[in-house]
Amino acid sequence: MGVVDSGTVGRTNQTVDRTNIHRLWRLVLIVIALGVATACYFAPILLIAIGVLAVLLLCARLIYRGRDRYIPNLYARDIRVYDDEYQAFIRRSLPEIRSQKIPGHPLLWEASRLPEPTTENSDELLLDLGVWIGWSTRLTSDASGRTVYGFDTFEGLVEDWQIEDQFLIKQGTFSLSDPLAKRFIHDTGVTLQDGVPATLGRKVQYVKGSTYDTLAPFLAERPQAPIRLFHMDLDTYESCLHGLETCKDHFVEGSILVFDEYLVTNGEMRAFFEFQNRYGLEWRYRSWGLEVGEMNAEMVTAPWKRAMYYLAAITMHLLDGRYLWKFLTKRYWRFWLGAPIGDIAFMLGAAGLRKSVSLEITGLGKLDPTRR
Ligand SMILES: C[S@@+](CC[C@H](N)C(=O)[O-])C[C@H]1O[C@@H](n2cnc3c(N)ncnc32)[C@H](O)[C@@H]1O
Repeated sequence: MGVVDSGTVGRTNQTVDRTNIHRLWRLVLIVIALGVATACYFAPILLIAIGVLAVLLLCARLIYRGRDRYIPNLYARDIRVYDDEYQAFIRRSLPEIRSQKIPGHPLLWEASRLPEPTTENSDELLLDLGVWIGWSTRLTSDASGRTVYGFDTFEGLVEDWQIEDQFLIKQGTFSLSDPLAKRFIHDTGVTLQDGVPATLGRKVQYVKGSTYDTLAPFLAERPQAPIRLFHMDLDTYESCLHGLETCKDHFVEGSILVFDEYLVTNGEMRAFFEFQNRYGLEWRYRSWGLEVGEMNAEMVTAPWKRAMYYLAAITMHLLDGRYLWKFLTKRYWRFWLGAPIGDIAFMLGAAGLRKSVSLEITGLGKLDPTRR
């Protein structure tokens, strides 16, 4: 299972993904491993105990029957709750996604791989749907050297977001008036102008309002413009499907679609499944990696404060303990008994969520104007 190299920005010669937090996290893991090794050295009985546990785990993995029924993101929902067609789509998707692991963020990885901006491609659109305080849009522009359009209500989700059968995130969450947003706005040096984040010198334009109202008129003003990069981070199934449907006539062969929450099976993945099915699209997966929202912590200006953000995130990750110590939950055992070894290493190697996926449209199906 190959890990694709992280991208570099040809334009500025800087690495695109600043994954310092994950380096720090791996250091924490190494320190824990060294601590255990030292303890084993002084108390060899521990080594025997760990060996016995490892053998038991291996035997349990051999007899476990739940493989391929759970999604790497949460190992929460049995995909057999879905109809056969969607189940088949998920089963087909997972091995392909697994072969496209990258250490960094699919959005920035893709943006950094777009061709240089030229007069020929100047009409191509780069869209960032769901921008919060604006960093995903600005960093996409930095990585691509191009203008990026960011869409958001700036007043939070327009509908409730049910994540699998696990969590409900309420409508209005992620408003810029939330205390968390205010803290990040302050600490990353963002200012607001009429309730919209400042561009901070980047080639970005923000469009305020619900995408249900703003996206279609925006595209109507650019009827011939192809979408080169489509980043979906509106979170909910409904907004995602609406975004895809509204943009459909602007997709071309070679359009790159990045979904920040793709591995939420009742959200973006479901929306894309229905969309591609309806139009007989052809596509191929290109990367699986980290969600871009964590770059907000990387943009904290004061180095000591940034370090505090890393420590807070790592502490929360340890306390959350989803794959580490919550051994009384089903999710924990589904992960340790059912996940491919490559997934286990991939998921444990990051102090954050790896559920972002990018894909490329390779055939337009019924969206091809010559076939309609
Ligand atoms: C998870 S946040 C985006 C995070 C951002 N991409 C980042 O990396 O920091 C989701 C955003 O989508 C916005 N949103 C959700 N549904 C929307 C819709 N239908 N129209 C406009 N904005 C929407 C919310 O206001 C919120 O700011």
